[in-house]
Amino acid sequence: MTVSVFIGTSVDGFIARTNGDLDFLPEGGGEPHGYNEFFASVDALVIGRKTFEAWPYGDKRVVVLSSRPVDLSAAAGGVVEQMAGPPAEIVSRLAASGAHHLYVDGGITIQAFLRAGLVHHLIITRVPVLIGDGVPLFGTLPRDVRLRHVATRHYPSGLVQSEYQVEP
Ligand SMILES: NC(=O)c1ccc[n+]([C@@H]2O[C@H](COP(=O)([O-])OP(=O)(O)OC[C@H]3O[C@@H](n4cnc5c(N)ncnc54)[C@H](OP(=O)(O)O)[C@@H]3O)[C@@H](O)[C@H]2O)c1
Repeated sequence: MTVSVFIGTSVDGFIARTNGDLDFLPEGGGEPHGYNEFFASVDALVIGRKTFEAWPYGDKRVVVLSSRPVDLSAAAGGVVEQMAGPPAEIVSRLAASGAHHLYVDGGITIQAFLRAGLVHHLIITRVPVLIGDGVPLFGTLPRDVRLRHVATRHYPSGLVQSEYQVEP
């Protein structure tokens, strides 16, 4: 099983404004920067409830994490299910159901999977803007998470994308 994160942030590390607005991200996802290829490579998305409420995910298996009832009928297309529990249990359940590559999304959710040592691959695309405050990508950790730099790519619009492997 491989668990990946592919996310856009402001240069100061925020994935949304405090009120949930994403207006600082380039419209329509911006110029091509590998998202479609990445998306095609995943078997399932594992997203926090707040991301589910904010983001369209197209035609993929989507697992919404929440500890409370969620109205899954809001989802456009795809197969949507709900799970809750420790990240390791969620990964095991998805592995048992045949998934090989998970795309984990949402700040709180990514932080929980990182704390549990379950993320293998991070692709972070920095958008050239500072927004000062917002929903952070990263949070506290019980210990350092060592990363191996794989590549950094930059794009004419100013996007800078860094790819890391998480050291085991
Ligand atoms: N810039 C980008 O590329 C990007 C990407 C994704 C999202 N976003 C933005 O980020 C914001 C959402 O991020 P966020 O950090 O606020 O929240 P989030 O991670 O999307 O959702 C957090 C919620 O997920 C649920 N959850 C997470 N792990 C769980 C687990 N193991 N078991 C049960 N429930 C679990 C909890 O829901 P309950 O409270 O219901 O229990 C928790 O409150 C949105 O504004 C979204 O648009 C931006």
